[in-house]
Amino acid sequence: MKINIAIDGYSSCGKSTLAKLLSQKLEYSYIDTGSMYRSVTLYLVNQGLIKDGKVTLEQVVNSLDEIDITFKYNPSKHQSDTYLNGKNVEDEIRSPEISSLVSGISKIKEVRKKLILLQQKIAEDKGIVMDGRDIGTAVLPNAEVKFFVTADLEIRTQRRYEELKEKGYDYSFDKVKQNLLERDHHDTSREENPLKQAKDAILLDNTELTIEELVDKSYQYVQTKINK
Ligand code: DC
Repeated sequence: MKINIAIDGYSSCGKSTLAKLLSQKLEYSYIDTGSMYRSVTLYLVNQGLIKDGKVTLEQVVNSLDEIDITFKYNPSKHQSDTYLNGKNVEDEIRSPEISSLVSGISKIKEVRKKLILLQQKIAEDKGIVMDGRDIGTAVLPNAEVKFFVTADLEIRTQRRYEELKEKGYDYSFDKVKQNLLERDHHDTSREENPLKQAKDAILLDNTELTIEELVDKSYQYVQTKINK
């Protein structure tokens, strides 16, 4: 029996790494919903529609029908890459520019409506590990397993700082921390589907666990649900 697994949590708390490894272990598909919000943001940037971090609702709504987001499995990475209108945008959508703009775009009700419908459609056949901010609460409220991942802010900052450094970006630790705090604020305080732990979600604190321990813990739990 295949089930759906919803993973929510703050930015850079390790939820995507968990979702990727767990999906590989279960031979499930991994869907990174953050990459969808990032792709919409990239599209608006490429069209020159975001000025000083702002965009008009009308322009966003008019653009939504022109945006097609798909995933294609990349065997060399053992994971799927994100495609925007047929182009692989996996690297572009992770740039600091997109990271700083995406929270503003993900607040827009019409954007969420389109992406949530797409996410629900993808999950129809089960066997999906999906990560984001509102998966257990809004996208897949009936998911058989829900995890909510947290980690200490210092650890999350260190993780993000190293990630950016590896990609060649030179940001101070404090700037990275500030950006995470801003994103937390946006994600938890927005009106539409704010980030919060679903009532039936299992809390996983990633501060002191190694990623292997985190994957093992969640895998054991998933097995109990699959074998029910
Ligand atoms: O997980 P991420 O950092 O790639 O997500 C990018 C942004 O998208 C994040 O600031 C919040 C938003 N997001 C969202 O609102 N809902 C989701 N299900 C996934 C991401």
